[in-house]
Amino acid sequence: MSAQLIDGKAIAATIRGEIKTEVEQMKTQYGRVPGLAAVLVGERKDSQTYVRMKKKACAEVGITSFGYNLPADISQEELLKVVRDLNANPDVHGILVQLPLPDHLDDEEILGAISLEKDVDGFHPLNIGRLSMKRRDPLFVPCTPKGCIELLDRSGVSIEGKRAVVLGRSNIVGLPVAMLLLHRNATLTICHSRTQDLPGVVREADILIAAVGRAEMVKGDWVKPGAVVIDVGVNAVDDPTAKKGYKLVGDVDFNEVKEVAAMITPVPGGVGPMTIAMLMRNTLDGAKHGPGMK
Ligand code: GUN
Repeated sequence: MSAQLIDGKAIAATIRGEIKTEVEQMKTQYGRVPGLAAVLVGERKDSQTYVRMKKKACAEVGITSFGYNLPADISQEELLKVVRDLNANPDVHGILVQLPLPDHLDDEEILGAISLEKDVDGFHPLNIGRLSMKRRDPLFVPCTPKGCIELLDRSGVSIEGKRAVVLGRSNIVGLPVAMLLLHRNATLTICHSRTQDLPGVVREADILIAAVGRAEMVKGDWVKPGAVVIDVGVNAVDDPTAKKGYKLVGDVDFNEVKEVAAMITPVPGGVGPMTIAMLMRNTLDGAKHGPGMK
């Protein structure tokens, strides 16, 4: 292996340690403990796992978590009421509605109902709108994109002036991470399933963010030698040798690309832990901005 591993698990653990210290200081100085409400609708296994991991991280850093497990057939009005009640709850500084929501629910309206000051996922239309313009600081930046940038920063990768290619254009990762890279003065390309000569475009990247949701799509000959590769994908593929019968792989063919890239994140243990660490950071920031703080 020639590439240096970007160890998201270790970096996230460091960040959680920093947050834990700040949470303790806040408690001592202001008698306030940050609170995060995690709203889960339905029974999707992946969403259940993500929410469980988020609550576990809260416990580790000293953030109080409030769990809401709601039935898949909840009405739009009932879910809106849950969100509005959480908006009014002074012990809750961050509200997270796990996505995707069941099809009958209008996620745009739900996300728009979350108080701007508690939008720790950064998906409120106003926060996203601010992210999409110059010099309009959003109150919160979405966690996975923020985690990608943090991984680059903490690994000593400079972004300014580099060619950054984002593979994928989702609302949750592709589009917001592209905005963050642009704000950091990268020269940006966003590519996707309709892009002509996708390997050729990806090969231009000094920094590649793969967030397309296709298992091991990015091959070794798609990557410029010396590139930095951040793999956001989490794809389950059959693996009869694994206890669960499947394993998780990224959007990047790790074994091939590690021989070409200068730096690469693994899956699991790359971006995933950073998403949760950034959620803890946003929740702490939300508590810092609340009433009664200096
Ligand atoms: N689903 C996939 N990623 C995310 C995330 O970062 N936040 C929420 N709320 N849902 C998600």
